[in-house]
Amino acid sequence: MSGATVVNHPLVQHKLTIMRDKGTSTQGFRRLLREISLLLCYEVTRDLPVVNQTIETPICEMQSPTLAGKKLVFASVLRAGNGLLEGMLDLVPSARVAHVGLYRDPETLTPVEYYFKAPEDLDERLVIVVDPMLATANSAIAAVDKLKERGATNLSFLCLLAAPEGVAKFNEAHPDVPIYTASIDQKLNDHGYIVPGLGDAGDRMYGTK
Ligand code: PRP
Ligand code: URA
Repeated sequence: MSGATVVNHPLVQHKLTIMRDKGTSTQGFRRLLREISLLLCYEVTRDLPVVNQTIETPICEMQSPTLAGKKLVFASVLRAGNGLLEGMLDLVPSARVAHVGLYRDPETLTPVEYYFKAPEDLDERLVIVVDPMLATANSAIAAVDKLKERGATNLSFLCLLAAPEGVAKFNEAHPDVPIYTASIDQKLNDHGYIVPGLGDAGDRMYGTK
């Protein structure tokens, strides 16, 4: 499907299978999400620009690449986004963090915003939005709308699972924002849940149901 990169590395797929299993514990689910986020972070940052820096090894001077430009921003869509955020920060500890507080109204499936905090110079940074689930895409679209409103121009969206309907809708709303995911599943059910999916990511992560 155009507009989404599926990270089909065997380690990602193996961990995702365990996460989907309804018998996996809250503790196991959280640990796997953290592990998978490291692998997904590796893919979503693959094309970051680098610049050569002069350093001295114990043997000689050399030109060696380092990340160019300002620090990245990871924008976590609360609350489930925090499950991806933790592992990403393990890999890029210098990243700045934005929090976008949204929940999906269970009746209307529309996002309700309750919090927003982000670095001020979003226009100068790559912003990687993280949320495990892209279902109807209403939440992801609202989060990106908000970040763009606050100046972000260079964004990517990283999730664990996506529905084909959500990918299509997000691509239409934000064609400039590439999606990275571990899987595009079959469809959405009548309640807007991804099928086969993994259930409610926030509840499985925090044991709230
Ligand atoms: C989940 C998920 C996404 C959203 C996806 O969050 O983490 O943010 O649903 O659904 P959508 O694509 O149809 O908008 P939820 O609203 O359950 O909030 P939570 O993270 O606080 O549990
Ligand atoms: N939010 C989730 O946590 N899971 C879904 O399948 C859809 C939305």
